[in-house]
Amino acid sequence: MPSYAGLLAKYGHLLDLPAHTSRVTLLEGSTPLIPAPKLASAMGGGFELFIKYEGLNPTGSFKDRGMTAAVSEAQGRGAKTVICASTGNTAASAAAYAARAGMKAIVLIPQGKVAAGKLAGAVAYGAQVIQIDGSFDDALTMVVAITNKHPIALVNSINPYRIEGQKTSAFEICDELESVPDWLCLPVGNAGNITSYWAGFKQYDELKSTGLPQVLGVQAAGSAPLVLGHPVEKPETVATAIRIGAPARGEQALQAAEESRGQIIAATDENILDMQKMLAQLEGIWVEPASAAGLAGLALEIANGKLNPKGKRIVAICTGHGLKDPDIVTKSMQKPVVVEPELGALEEIILK
Ligand code: F0G
Repeated sequence: MPSYAGLLAKYGHLLDLPAHTSRVTLLEGSTPLIPAPKLASAMGGGFELFIKYEGLNPTGSFKDRGMTAAVSEAQGRGAKTVICASTGNTAASAAAYAARAGMKAIVLIPQGKVAAGKLAGAVAYGAQVIQIDGSFDDALTMVVAITNKHPIALVNSINPYRIEGQKTSAFEICDELESVPDWLCLPVGNAGNITSYWAGFKQYDELKSTGLPQVLGVQAAGSAPLVLGHPVEKPETVATAIRIGAPARGEQALQAAEESRGQIIAATDENILDMQKMLAQLEGIWVEPASAAGLAGLALEIANGKLNPKGKRIVAICTGHGLKDPDIVTKSMQKPVVVEPELGALEEIILK
């Protein structure tokens, strides 16, 4: 028998989950912490950079960590249906874990703003997919209202068990490095993930005196309510995963940044897409646009002299796989050249 039995088996004793929680798992977690020395050099060098590659979770994003906890709790209390609002990744994850649990999943997504790999995932796992003629924020308001009225389990990160599950990534980082990093940088959308990391690091510090990292949260400039200090009514960004104007856990995100002596900043779409390309081409790690936001923000802070990385150990959370959003690459690429199936023609092209 394989020894790894998923996050609840490994870290369940550190998570605040009710006794009725069952165990619905796809063996999520245990994602690699990949050194990225060439990317660190491109940012000026002199520091250690690691990518926590969360796109290697079972449905291709970090959401599976929270979903194993939330769906396990919902199943344990006898819920038959889960629902969420989503920019795509939560939808795919909820759909997969609901399928695993034998439950129904209903997902509400903003019309036309969900990347192909995410929508396809939700459909493939058998969810009922409903498009809202509005934003993620509108969809979230609707799922909160409907779960207040009907016995359907809400699995957005307002659900506290999502946060519990997502703390496990902080535990994994500390266990693997045998210390905390100096800085943690990550994208911020609805702000559940930054809340979870901070809670996880604080818990490990209390248990093991690991110390705490400084946290750099990064929003997309067109969807940056936490940087602007007010909700954004019509959020826009190519990083559709974090196209969110009123983050449910915004206050906690700001608190994490403040308590850690870190910051929440914005990166432009251009910064984000440039970083997505650099990470793929320098390190062989392809992530979806939102997942490059943390690194894009780090590069900006270093270039602006606001973050001195020298001698530091920095971990960047790359939240979702590049395959989630192939269109962002294919729609702007040059069509690959077509060659006759003949050696001379091939030589002419590759040797010229
Ligand atoms: N990166 C990716 C790839 C995401 O899908 C999300 C959120 C985030 C970062 C931001 O995390 O919301 O906890 O601050 N996606 C949600 C969804 C909103 O519906 O899939 P957050």
